[in-house]
Formats: sequence, structure tokens, C-alpha cells
Amino acid sequence: KRNVIVSSPGKLIIGGEHAVVYGRRALVTSIGMRLYMQLTAEEQTNEPTSPVLKVSFQDTNQQHLIDLSNIQNSYPIEIQGILFVYNHFKSFVSDRSQLNIQVHSEIPIGAGLGSSAAFSVCLVGCFYLLYHKTLNREDINELSYKVECIFHGTPSGIDNTISTYGQSLVYSRAVKKHINFRLSNLAIIDTGIPKSTKRMVELVRLFVESNQQEGERILNDVERCVDSMIEHSEQIDQLFQENQQLLKCLGVSTLEIDNIIEILAKKNISAKITGAGGGGCLIALTSCFTKDQILDLLQDNHIKSIAFVECGVEGLRE
Ligand code: PMV
Repeated sequence: KRNVIVSSPGKLIIGGEHAVVYGRRALVTSIGMRLYMQLTAEEQTNEPTSPVLKVSFQDTNQQHLIDLSNIQNSYPIEIQGILFVYNHFKSFVSDRSQLNIQVHSEIPIGAGLGSSAAFSVCLVGCFYLLYHKTLNREDINELSYKVECIFHGTPSGIDNTISTYGQSLVYSRAVKKHINFRLSNLAIIDTGIPKSTKRMVELVRLFVESNQQEGERILNDVERCVDSMIEHSEQIDQLFQENQQLLKCLGVSTLEIDNIIEILAKKNISAKITGAGGGGCLIALTSCFTKDQILDLLQDNHIKSIAFVECGVEGLRE
């Protein structure tokens, strides 16, 4: 019986979401919420001997049992991701293998905090560690991007890259560069409004295609804003507001989000969407307010949760 356990972090996009899909630079940081995955390979002694995969999601109590010699087309998307990675490593798996995957996530699912990327990175990381005995980050990042494509269509790759490498990154499709960027007073506000990254990316695509000049101008302004965040972190409050305005121009804010941001602005708290928008999470800069005080301010807005998180943590690890 062989057994590996890995974990990788969630993320917050500090600035540049959506524009990053169009090759612009974004600023992203890993957060102190992780997804944990265990992969065990056992040799079955009983007949019949076709390989079997067992997956259990501990947080939702969901379990799946899959006969790997008879793969169907109708599995949930997470299982399709697992089968894609299994296929990649298939030549190392014997006919008698029983593979067991267990998943536990501290990262809330579908909130724009990178849970799916952490899942993809851990998944590839587990198979890598079990069959190649190393965690080659470059290879793992590349393959986990392909898993992310199964989940999200054509993502920019920012989520799997930060989850693989950790810390904080200036990321574009062409360049990834670690930077020393930390915010000690960053609150994540989960609006509890469901969002679809795919739908929001599509919405922005329609906007950019039908307003080409304006679209390009906004995307360039977003990138300038990101560059300023990196170079002039003392102006981060102002830059949060600017980036939020640009996201609003791209059409990914909502009346509810605008309303929350306006209430916070009255108390001098700068906030912006993080991730795809349309719902999901906001990030806010505040050193003067506690979690309960912010919840109080937003009591009519049905906020799901507020968390202060650590930024710039370690990426994929054993
Ligand atoms: O999935 P989210 O909510 O973290 O959004 C990802 C960021 C986008 O820029 C909107 C999409 C992408 O692939 O970069």
C-alpha cells in the first residue's frame, strides 16, 4: 500500500481579474486556507481484477466508486477531472490497483477563492508524488491548467499557478514573477450571491468584442492600476476603488455589490470584487473594524461570512 498526502492554498486576486484573460498583468496572492488531498494505491487480492477508483469528499460526505475498466461519460465534473489525470498516469497503474482519493477543503467552494484550482493542483500533485516521487512544480502547473480547462473552459491560468507556487505573484499569460506583497488588514466578504466564472468571463468577452476601443482602454487601465498596486502599495486604498470602477465598466459588478461597496466607503473602507464578480467575494481593506463591526454595517445585505486571512503562504506541499 502506498500513500501520499499533499495540500495547496486558495487565492485572492488583488487586482487585474478579467483583464488577465486578455493577457494583461494581474496581482494575486495565496491565502491561509488550504485544500488537502490523500491518494492511496492498494493492490487488490480478490478477483475480479480491474482497477477501481474510490473518491470521497469529506466536507459534503459524497462518495464515488468507479470501475476504471469501464469509464462512462456521465460523471460529475470533478470526477471527469480526476479521470483526465488518471488517464495521464494510466501506464503506471496496475490492473489490480485500487486508488483511493480523499479530499478535504478549508476553502469555500465556488466563492472565487480558488477551490477548484487547489483541487486540480493537489490532484496532479498526488499522482506526481505517487508515481514520480517528486513534486515538479512546472509540470504539475502545466497539467493542472488542463484540468482547470475541463472545469472552466479557457481560464487565464492564474488560479492554478498561484496555488502551485504560493506566495504572491504578478501574473500574465506570458510572465509570472514572485513579488514581496503582503496586506495585513485584508478582509474577505462573502456576499453569498452565487456566481458563475464562465458566465462572467463570457459577459466580458461580449462587452470587449462589441466595444473594441473602449474595451481595450479599460483593459489597459486595469493593467496600469495593477502596476500601481505593485509600485505604490501606500496608495492601495485608492487603487482598490479604481480597479472596482473599471470592473463595473466591464459589467461584472451588481447592484448588491455596488451597494455594499458604497456602505463600506462611507466608513473609509475600500473594497472591490475579487475574482469573476457577479456575486462571490469582495476584498476590503480595514485595520479599524472587527469582523462583527463589518457584519453590523452590512446587516441588511445578507452577507454569508467575513474572514481576515493570511496572505502570501506556501504553495503546493507534501
Ligand atoms: O474563478 P474566479 O472567480 O477566481 O475568477 C477567475 C479570474 C478571472 O480573471 C475572472 C478568470 C481567469 O481565468 O483569470
